[in-house]
Amino acid sequence: MTLIFGKSGQVASSLKRLLPPQHALFVGADECNFANLDLIAPLLDRVQPKDIIVCSAYTQVDKAETERDLAEKINHFSLEKIGSWAAKNNARVVSYSTDYVYPGEGEAAQSEESPTQPANWYGETKLRGETALLKSCPRTVILRTSWVYSEYGHNFVKTMLKLARDRSELNIVADQVGAPTYAEDLAKATLQILGAWTSDQDTSGVYNCAGGGSTSWFFFANAIFEKWRILGHTLAIQNVHPIASERYPTPAKRPKNSRLNQTKLLRKFDIRLPNWDQSLETCLRRLHENSDV
Ligand SMILES: NC(=O)c1ccc[n+]([C@@H]2O[C@H](COP(=O)([O-])OP(=O)(O)OC[C@H]3O[C@@H](n4cnc5c(N)ncnc54)[C@H](OP(=O)(O)O)[C@@H]3O)[C@@H](O)[C@H]2O)c1
Repeated sequence: MTLIFGKSGQVASSLKRLLPPQHALFVGADECNFANLDLIAPLLDRVQPKDIIVCSAYTQVDKAETERDLAEKINHFSLEKIGSWAAKNNARVVSYSTDYVYPGEGEAAQSEESPTQPANWYGETKLRGETALLKSCPRTVILRTSWVYSEYGHNFVKTMLKLARDRSELNIVADQVGAPTYAEDLAKATLQILGAWTSDQDTSGVYNCAGGGSTSWFFFANAIFEKWRILGHTLAIQNVHPIASERYPTPAKRPKNSRLNQTKLLRKFDIRLPNWDQSLETCLRRLHENSDV
């Protein structure tokens, strides 16, 4: 049995589409809220999973700056609990982390060996969670990903489509570069890794895992509008203006360079996620078919 922490989030919903229901149990915040860490071990004792996939996280990057303790509980201390249970019960754990653990300076793609230095509190809590999980459980894979979007929940793609329906002008940050990652590609990679897991010593560790290629939020937004129009939709948007990050201040600082070197993932598992613009088409086609924006 695989236990997935998370039910309605982007990656959890994508896993739901891929996993046979008889082998997977999805546990949402309604059933096991990480704000109460004492709920975790008894739940795991009841279910006795062989594999645990942790999609649950505190993902509100700006709000984390003020809800610091809660963000840390959910992104760090919960993983300590899950890791110690998994170590005692010989279970494997896959968890997700973020490009925000890197300082994001310069232009080079950052590898797993690059120094970490989170630019915001969300990134710091994710990094602490990584460390705690790796320390507590020898059978752990952590996938550092970036700019996740999907048909589910809230994300940049859906926000852009909503804004562009009514507004003729938009300012979009053009000096942050990274790789948009389609949640389903990440979910598929997760299952491939679990399937290819050889010895724990060989497999455990941290891997960068994001969409192929790179772009800025500005070009990403333009690609969303162009592809959506090709699908036959009318948008009010006329002018998209590229702006510097400084003109769009946010409570949490964002790194300008979110490029991730993914050689380790390719070498170890022969996994390369599709290019971001190819997967964007898949996601938009599904939104179009479901009339879901
Ligand atoms: N979104 C991004 O751009 C991005 C970028 C880099 C890394 N990541 C990482 O990728 C992973 C998946 O992200 P995502 O985009 O799928 O997240 P998401 O759509 O924001 O979903 C968050 C998930 O966390 C669960 N959750 C939230 N608060 C909780 C609490 N107090 N107790 C228990 N569960 C709680 C939610 O549970 P319910 O299902 O019950 O609602 C939901 O399944 C996370 O580790 C995230 O940090 C995301």
